[in-house]
Amino acid sequence: MNPDRTACRHRRLQPRLQPRLRRAALALAALGATATAAPAQEAAADNLAAADNLTAITREEGRWFTAEGVPTYKIEADGTLDWATYSGFRRYHSECHVCHGPEGEGSSYAPALKESAVAMDYYDFIGVVADGRTKVNAAQTSVMPSFGTNLNVMCYLDDIYTYLKARGTDAVPRGRPAKREEKPEEMRTAEAACLGT
Ligand code: HEC
Repeated sequence: MNPDRTACRHRRLQPRLQPRLRRAALALAALGATATAAPAQEAAADNLAAADNLTAITREEGRWFTAEGVPTYKIEADGTLDWATYSGFRRYHSECHVCHGPEGEGSSYAPALKESAVAMDYYDFIGVVADGRTKVNAAQTSVMPSFGTNLNVMCYLDDIYTYLKARGTDAVPRGRPAKREEKPEEMRTAEAACLGT
């Protein structure tokens, strides 16, 4: 493994940490607002809507993001799924489903990731996959391996994440997504850069 590539990935993540700080500020503003008059409460509700973790607002290098710059899925009115989320379906089933069950449904061994992807903070989700996590209790030791140096996971982790979010909200049904867009050229370029090919 070339450590430079992991460093590269981390550099790529850095700018995205800024929206997280913005969100913390928004949440604080919302808290302050609810303590005062009704118009302020409406403003707080607007802030919360803006802070939603699902709605696709912007597109960058072929990938959809929420208002806060967190990757998300996008389904067109005619049912066409964005490429990244379709890619996530394939990558999830090659790297994660042995432990986490088909389609993010969970297993007796590992949690249902379709729920985790909706409930967890994006950066925490990425962190667990990159660093791994081990829980030991009297009944069993539960090990999530670290994938931080596995390019077949790290280069597609945003795809996997958006696929799982789409499953968690039932935006995408079980099984292979039927209708999807062609792979955007920018994604081809970004993928090659990440894999170093
Ligand atoms: C060898 C089995 C195994 C594989 C393969 C695996 N996981 Fe896990 N994963 C686990 C276990 C077990 C846990 C629970 C760990 C714990 O209890 O802390 C876990 C936990 C997680 C969590 C935290 C979920 C939560 O709700 O707290 C995330 C996120 C996660 N895995 C993502 C992934 C992704 C993405 C992949 C594929 C790239 C993957 N895992 C592959 C076993 C695995």
